Amino acid sequence: MAGQPIRKPTRLEPWQDAGQAPYVRIEKVTKTFGDFVAVDEVSLSIYRNEFFALLGGSGSGKTTLLRMLAGFEQPTEGRIFIDGVDMAGIPPYERPVNMMFQSYALFPHMTVEQNVAFGLKQDNVPKAEIRDRVAEMLGMVQLSAFGKRRPHQLSGGQRQRVALARSLVKRPKLLLLDEPLGALDKKLREKTQFELVNIQEKLGVTFIVVTHDQEEAMTMSSRIAVMNHGVIAQVGTPTEIYEYPHSRFVAEFIGSINMFEGRVVEASGDHVLVASEEAGCELHISHATPAPAGSPVAVAIRPEKIALSKEPPPSADGAAGRNATKGVVREIAYLGDVSIYLVELPTGKTVRVTAPNVTRRTEMPITWEDEVYLSWRPFAGVVLAQ
Ligand SMILES: Nc1ncnc2c1ncn2[C@@H]1O[C@H](COP(=O)(O)OP(=O)(O)OP(=O)(O)O)[C@@H](O)[C@H]1O
Ligand SMILES: [Mg+2]
Repeated sequence: MAGQPIRKPTRLEPWQDAGQAPYVRIEKVTKTFGDFVAVDEVSLSIYRNEFFALLGGSGSGKTTLLRMLAGFEQPTEGRIFIDGVDMAGIPPYERPVNMMFQSYALFPHMTVEQNVAFGLKQDNVPKAEIRDRVAEMLGMVQLSAFGKRRPHQLSGGQRQRVALARSLVKRPKLLLLDEPLGALDKKLREKTQFELVNIQEKLGVTFIVVTHDQEEAMTMSSRIAVMNHGVIAQVGTPTEIYEYPHSRFVAEFIGSINMFEGRVVEASGDHVLVASEEAGCELHISHATPAPAGSPVAVAIRPEKIALSKEPPPSADGAAGRNATKGVVREIAYLGDVSIYLVELPTGKTVRVTAPNVTRRTEMPITWEDEVYLSWRPFAGVVLAQ
């Protein structure tokens, strides 16, 4: 994720501050279509000025949840509060909310400027102010030179940015963006991510952004909710979600991960030992787990936390045979800054390891069919019971 925006740490994270009232409060909201449950008892608190990401696979209920916040759908059960006000029965245009739809539609007969100005005109904003605000927004999305064009004279990515400008120009308190950057190429996407974060900090808007793209969610958001089949699987900061997934689903959904099936042989307040035939060694993890001795668990280890060496590693935690195993390099993918190694263990299990490409003169490079040691530190693993 090199070269991507990193959020400046805020001094106090509002969700940890018991005195702060959430700006958006979703209370046990369920939405059914016939007997299909699209959103299943979701509860969420989102705070003012958050950049909150909803991340999940196709059909997991993200758009449905946004549409209920915007007022285009009514919850079947549960309640939604925005700024302390119960939204039941409040129509979309009376909510302090603007939504940019997944399939945004620009007015084809209007120019870019007219498209962006449309909402302001309807609100009878004075002409001079409209001109200034539209120009400011077009500058922000880097379309100043395109104001006189019509949508059919734009690329898909440019149209998407017009839709973004149109949803921002009214300065809503709460902006709901459904896949706002989906049509942009990688470079422009990264640039627009920076812009969005800047806009958000400048205008003080609360953003809820739906995305398929986990990297985007990781880099832009204050917190992420991972959705799966209408249920929130986990809510947390990008680091929490990446480093401390609560379930196999979240661990596997975000980034790449190695899962070793095993059984708890020892569990105490500060460490766990897991016997894993699959890993070919005992796993020592330096955090507690609620899973008692004897229970089946998986230990998840990220590829960048595993070290590769041709020489036996100095024992990571002082006990031989723990957190170290041996295998044969089957595949190497060179990605420039890092390489990915797929290492096959005698058990048949393939382990993915990523290593930065820094040449060390003292070591022979690791190559195909080499026998290698894999080792990791006790803090690298996460024990997952479910
Ligand atoms: N009006 C509707 N009638 C019936 N089923 C619906 C309706 N709207 C959504 N669904 C179903 O609800 C589920 C969730 O849909 P939703 O659009 O919220 O998914 P999503 O997470 O936004 O997916 P995607 O990433 O593909 O946009 C889907 O299975 C969808 O088919
Ligand atoms: Mg959707």
